[in-house]
Amino acid sequence: MVAYEHTPVSVSDKRAVVVGGTSGIGQAIALGFATEGADVIATSRSEDAVAETADAIEERGGNTARVTCDVTDADSLEQLRETAVEAFGGIDVVVASQGAISRERILDIGDDDWDFVTDVALDGVRRVTQELAPAMDEDGSIINISSLAARLSMADLPAYAAAKGGVEAFTRASAKELAPGIRVNAIAPGFVITPQNKETYAEGTEKRAKIDERALAGRVAEREEMVGAAVFLGSDASSYVTGEVLTVDGGFADSAL
Ligand SMILES: NC(=O)c1ccc[n+]([C@@H]2O[C@H](COP(=O)([O-])OP(=O)(O)OC[C@H]3O[C@@H](n4cnc5c(N)ncnc54)[C@H](O)[C@@H]3O)[C@@H](O)[C@H]2O)c1
Repeated sequence: MVAYEHTPVSVSDKRAVVVGGTSGIGQAIALGFATEGADVIATSRSEDAVAETADAIEERGGNTARVTCDVTDADSLEQLRETAVEAFGGIDVVVASQGAISRERILDIGDDDWDFVTDVALDGVRRVTQELAPAMDEDGSIINISSLAARLSMADLPAYAAAKGGVEAFTRASAKELAPGIRVNAIAPGFVITPQNKETYAEGTEKRAKIDERALAGRVAEREEMVGAAVFLGSDASSYVTGEVLTVDGGFADSAL
């Protein structure tokens, strides 16, 4: 008799909070978790977007609660924590998917644009961790959404790149401090079609042609293709994975000539 038992990749018993979960990648993760049987709160600043996504979670059989939050405001994150604890009794998985971008170049970008991006994308991740980690149970999992911009040279995105580099460093730092118990990892998506960028990456554009040529997958990603990585990192099947950045880019970053 060979003794063997592995933990399935499942989030069916998890209570998840997805910040930036009412649009794009975060919304796909929220709906993916709900479809897999998790209880999910998907939140952002917009009451309408929160309500629409909560309806979609319920349509997929997930329990949810409706609460807005702004990651630049610690009080609203405290409110989010209280709502999640009241609704679910605790939190197992936190996803930080909120996004902010500026396309000002290095020699042009001013403090306002720089601070706007870093406040949401980097300080926002810190505030989400600080406010929600204390409500997380043993075996919790935090998933921060980074970007290829953290490690590739990209023009026109200095604040975004710096913020995402910070997110990856902060992910490793918080994995260390919150261990054992809470695991902290990041997902670095490649080029993913979302409502905000569908024109930038539209078929026929020069950018799209370059992505299609370099990515080993030969194409951009659909947002749903980020869900599997998040389910894995949120599941106990990834119990030995922490402080990692999981790149989901169709082989773009490591593709040579
Ligand atoms: N789409 C891509 O190609 C791509 C690639 C790499 C990384 N990312 C990252 O993935 C994440 C999601 O991006 P997306 O493309 O889905 O964008 P998106 O704009 O569709 O979603 C971002 C979400 O964040 C919310 N948000 C913005 N500011 C907020 C704030 N202050 N407080 C709370 N919520 C706030 C928005 O309302 C929205 O729900 C971001 O971190 C982004 O940097 C995206």
